[in-house]
Amino acid sequence: DVAEKGGYPDFMLKEIHEQPRVVRDTLAGRMVGGALKISELGMSLEELQLIDRVYVIACGTSYHAGLVAKQLIEAWARIPTEVEVASEFRYRNPIITPTTLVVAVSQSGETADTLAAIREARIKGGKVFGITNVIGSPVARESDGVIYTKANKEIAVASTKSFLGQVVSLTLLSMVLAQAKGKFTQAQTRLLFGELADTAEQIERILADTTAIEEAALACKDANDALFIGRGMGSAISYEGALKLKEISYLHAEAYAAGEMKHGPIALLSKGFPVIAVATQSPVYDKVISNIQESRTRGALVVAVATEGDEEIRKHADYVIYVPRVRDAFSAITVSVPLQLFARAIAVARGCDVDQPRNLAKSVTVE
Ligand code: G6P
Repeated sequence: DVAEKGGYPDFMLKEIHEQPRVVRDTLAGRMVGGALKISELGMSLEELQLIDRVYVIACGTSYHAGLVAKQLIEAWARIPTEVEVASEFRYRNPIITPTTLVVAVSQSGETADTLAAIREARIKGGKVFGITNVIGSPVARESDGVIYTKANKEIAVASTKSFLGQVVSLTLLSMVLAQAKGKFTQAQTRLLFGELADTAEQIERILADTTAIEEAALACKDANDALFIGRGMGSAISYEGALKLKEISYLHAEAYAAGEMKHGPIALLSKGFPVIAVATQSPVYDKVISNIQESRTRGALVVAVATEGDEEIRKHADYVIYVPRVRDAFSAITVSVPLQLFARAIAVARGCDVDQPRNLAKSVTVE
């Protein structure tokens, strides 16, 4: 067991530390002769150009990777994109035409609802593209094309490295769509690809010093509830931060688009209530700061995830976790890592079994 964990106290921590490798392996061989290639797509350039709607369907953590993808596909390729949990999608007669691309995201490749959604999409004539971690899995077999996430086997029930592999794969897919739609030149794609590859080293830097994350976790460990907030990409990643925390520490956590605070969640806040804010550099940074201020005025204990070099944030937050500067499009990759470590540190401090949380299964093959 100790050997299997590679010297780490649990699989979750081992898998969190594998993430730089996951980035590198997922990107390996993708840039060929200066051009981005996903030959497994199973679609011609003409077919890609015709896509006028994208659905990302998934469950759990994979659904959150879909929220990230929506931000990227819409920003880059300008294709309307919806993200939907598979259990809803399969029963609501979704609008699918031959120019709809359905992207099914599933670590295990065998989640019952996701498979049913794939079948539904194909019956309706849509193209299905799978993103999975398991070679030859049902999702891989039943999709028109597939990207494998190269996370390798994930043992901890709460997904970490698979999520990262999914986000990186979906980022590649978004770039391919943007290219096909004529929104990116090859030079732009190459520039972005280089920055995407750099995130491997940036994650290594985050993993090298986790003191600030552990301090923030200790301050929050006895709370009953926590709120994760962010805007744009920060909102997408907040949902995953909250899910990770509730899954493994049993601390009730919710995520909200920060702009919605005043429409409900702010009523929850009182002295010491943890608010975890994704406040990295982005076009909506100032807006997030004002949401942090309104939380603090109500006594919240604010943990901010911010960009290295941002000293200003210290005035607004009780704890600051710094991540390296990346463009906003790649912030889900860097920010997810400290949020995983934050959830794990709280779970460990609360005496929870981080690898095998109660009531949860690694893969859900029944409805
Ligand atoms: C279960 C797992 C989650 C996972 C979800 C979807 O709930 O505990 O970690 O995100 O299923 O699984 P999939 O294999 O389809 O990504």
